[in-house]
Amino acid sequence: MGTSTSTGAGGLELDEIQGLLLRGFGDCPHARFLFLRIRDLGAARVALAALADELALTSTAARLLGPRAESRVQLAFTARGLRSLGLGDDALASFPLEFQEGIATPDRARILGDTGDSAPEAWEFGGRGDGGDGGIDVWLGLYARGAEPLRLLRADWADALAGFDVVAEQHTIPREGDREHFGFRDGISQPALEGDPAPLLPGQDLVRAGEFVLGYPNQYGKLPLSPSVAASPASAGLPAAAAPGRHDLGRNGSFLVYRKLEQHVDAFKTFFAEAAERESGRPDPALADYLAAKCMGRWPSGAPLMLAPERDDPALGADPLRNNDFRFAETDPRGLRCPIASHIRRANPRDAKGPDPVESLQVVQRHRLLRRGRMYHEASGRRGVHFLALNASLRRQFEFIQQTWIINPKFEGLHADRDPITGDSDPHARPEPGREPPVTQVTIPEHPYRRRLGGMPRFVSVRAGAYLFLPGLSTLRWLAMPGAR
Ligand code: HEM
Repeated sequence: MGTSTSTGAGGLELDEIQGLLLRGFGDCPHARFLFLRIRDLGAARVALAALADELALTSTAARLLGPRAESRVQLAFTARGLRSLGLGDDALASFPLEFQEGIATPDRARILGDTGDSAPEAWEFGGRGDGGDGGIDVWLGLYARGAEPLRLLRADWADALAGFDVVAEQHTIPREGDREHFGFRDGISQPALEGDPAPLLPGQDLVRAGEFVLGYPNQYGKLPLSPSVAASPASAGLPAAAAPGRHDLGRNGSFLVYRKLEQHVDAFKTFFAEAAERESGRPDPALADYLAAKCMGRWPSGAPLMLAPERDDPALGADPLRNNDFRFAETDPRGLRCPIASHIRRANPRDAKGPDPVESLQVVQRHRLLRRGRMYHEASGRRGVHFLALNASLRRQFEFIQQTWIINPKFEGLHADRDPITGDSDPHARPEPGREPPVTQVTIPEHPYRRRLGGMPRFVSVRAGAYLFLPGLSTLRWLAMPGAR
């Protein structure tokens, strides 16, 4: 349980922080995600201690700033996993309720829009039952520079993982040309953490580390709520908690959202092709691309509609010094360039949330995510993204964005629109008694008339999910130690 030696400019204890909090591991484009259930506690603890050593050597935030690594590992735990490792009720109760309950409760399914074919009952893994968290205790992320090193890394750990059942082993594919399956450049806009030594890009938000890493001040100037354990000789190596007589479990840790999101690529392409053909009276691929870009808020190259309103501009899309350098409020209050309903304007309204741009920026910065997803394409033909997002508060960040911005039909003065990319449209859903009928449209403001695309199906379905705690190194080592908690 070492004390930290490497401290970044903002006081971040980089040796203690799992690297995923700082970077998406672009140097390791090949990845595999294992969802594990503890079968033999003793053997599982030995494996976790060995993985913690590997993580300390190759995959902390400090190690990311050094030479490239051949491979990297990351670890996170469900509430069930922490309980399986011996964490008592008292310590578990200090975790946020949404984490304790897991991602798949009926209430949570409702607020996240996990209904219809996305309902947790139909998930491939995760979800309810099986002793909580769908029987998942641990998420192990394996990352490597190439397909062969990844295979070797998996093989290297095969014996050590004998104390676990593999609930699910999820493969990923590298993002070709940086495009996700619908054909748009992804991985452009991310907030930067105060204390990250990388230079800030134009347009990039600098947010306080406590929005993502527990133990540091957040945008409210406060320390995020952090789980803790009653102080005992066994917890002596952990830092003191704010409350007397307790030790801190959260410091240098974070919460990780996992969602397996299947993308219905054919439905997506067909929908926009047909909408364009209906309007032009003939196939009109250029109009189809324009309508899809309006729904995303960026062109396929990544060029933002705010800076390239008429047509795609690949040079702009590929230029990190320009492709995220925009706001909405002054230039585009009504969404004539970038529709209010578009995915990127909902997911990050920047300065256009409410009437005051300065206040908007402040408010919006309390609802940011670090996105760390990877793509998948299975032999069955099914494809999509393993969505991974980090935040200090699942409720205030991920759930708020999903519920209040992404699937809210009344977002920012709209009446009945969905996020056209990842919303919960379902034209086949029967209205539930006492609830409004399902909404399946998106409004594209234009001059002099607006366009409205209706009958939009759900283009993204949820296939699995989990809420996880990604601990700092000291807590990880403590969890792996035998003995009382
Ligand atoms: C399969 C589903 C999804 C696809 C295909 C998708 C695709 C994209 C693309 C292409 C971008 C623009 C590129 C960029 O700025 O990195 C983007 C941005 C973003 N997405 Fe998604 N996304 C999906 C799901 C989600 C979900 C579920 C959330 C959150 C709950 C989300 C949150 C964001 C955020 C915060 C941004 C950055 C917006 C900005 O700062 O301008 N996305 N997404």
